[in-house]
Amino acid sequence: MSEKPWGGRFSEKTDRVVESFTSSINIDKRLYSYDIEGSIAHCRMLAKQSIITEEEASSLIQGLGTIKRELERGKFHFDDGLEDIHMHIESRLLQEVGKVAQKLHTARSRNDQVALDTRMYLKDETLNIIDSLAKLKKVLLVFAENHIDTILPGYTHLQRAQPVLLAHHMMAYYEMFLRDSERFKGCLKRINVMPLGSAALAGTTYPIDRAYTAKLLDFPEVSRNSIDSVSDRDFIIEFLSTASICMVHFSRMSEELILWSSSEFGFIELPDSFATGSSIMPQKKNPDVPELIRGKTGIVFGNLIALLSIMKSLPLAYNRDMQEDKRPLFDTVDILTACITICTAMIPKLKINKEAMQMATSKGFLNATDMADYLVTKGMPFRQAHDCVGKAVNFAQNNNKELHELTLKELKTFSSLLKKDVFNILKTEQMINRRKSFGGTARENVMAAIKEAKKSLET
Ligand code: ARG
Repeated sequence: MSEKPWGGRFSEKTDRVVESFTSSINIDKRLYSYDIEGSIAHCRMLAKQSIITEEEASSLIQGLGTIKRELERGKFHFDDGLEDIHMHIESRLLQEVGKVAQKLHTARSRNDQVALDTRMYLKDETLNIIDSLAKLKKVLLVFAENHIDTILPGYTHLQRAQPVLLAHHMMAYYEMFLRDSERFKGCLKRINVMPLGSAALAGTTYPIDRAYTAKLLDFPEVSRNSIDSVSDRDFIIEFLSTASICMVHFSRMSEELILWSSSEFGFIELPDSFATGSSIMPQKKNPDVPELIRGKTGIVFGNLIALLSIMKSLPLAYNRDMQEDKRPLFDTVDILTACITICTAMIPKLKINKEAMQMATSKGFLNATDMADYLVTKGMPFRQAHDCVGKAVNFAQNNNKELHELTLKELKTFSSLLKKDVFNILKTEQMINRRKSFGGTARENVMAAIKEAKKSLET
């Protein structure tokens, strides 16, 4: 056997520059445990089908176990010349168990092997992410419960719009992360398909039992088309796009935390343990954690675009370009996992300035819609009411007052329908609690939403 497992038809040694250029070991070594587990299942299947003997299988399996332990203990030697994790393990197996190692690659190719490893890896990571998102959702629910009586301005166009409960605002993020979990569950279905046995691209002449391999590796499905099996990276693209959407949510939340912690808003204070200082300005406490989440979101989008671009013009089936799928994948898994973890830890520690939030709701005519709605209940068509209140707002603004600070006499100049009871309607708590339409911010609605969410998290 020549130095390289594929070296038979070559008469020249690979150039060193080429070796380091084509090598992916620094990245794909992360797949080692899946590669070994997949190889063990493959051996078992080969033996069951009498393609290799039971003795051969057990010696291969034993050798693979030894290599796994070496890798776990950091005792394994890596070498660029051996390209990737698959060849590293195979060539180490040759040293460990001798010639029989050459039988491991019967009826498979690295093309289906790498597809298998990546799917096994991504299945685990997706499950972990779904799990961590569940913890984050719990934290959001507790936060919402604790702030069921905290009122802040809701914004549109970043202009104060109408008062909402802080609990309601945070439950909006709960909904987003719930959709993310559902999307990741959807990804799992497409990840969970077993490609091994597709070999290079056309299947194999050996009497393999792919369903058996799938059973051993806990895959509910076997891929149906060998060409598709080795050229498909949709399951990674889908994961990366789901991760991108999820990061949009983290980024938007981060943006709000950054704004809210500025002195301009003063709504929250980040815990000292989650903020950093400035090297020059002693007074500063910077929101670096949310800022980095916002920044890393860009990297995650880039990773999605990278893989889409890598795949877009590839002819079927496997092309070496596809080796470049792992860096964006691993990077995205790392970023997303870190963001979920850090937000889950940070949210319960946010210091909320309830007074500042409440104060902000009393300035900026947040009760204008409610005054218009009042006029509608008195019989005025909504468009007319809108115009009438608009004029009142203009008047109040020119007199440096809020709507509820105008006298009844002043109000009556805009409509005789405005009576004393309008002042009650203009109170913040009233505004909140009268918004009882399903999904609205009324306290009782939000309480019910939290209760419902808690129930669904438990199941
Ligand atoms: N390192 C390769 C990858 O990650 C494994 C498959 C190589 N296949 C090949 N025919 N060279 O894609």
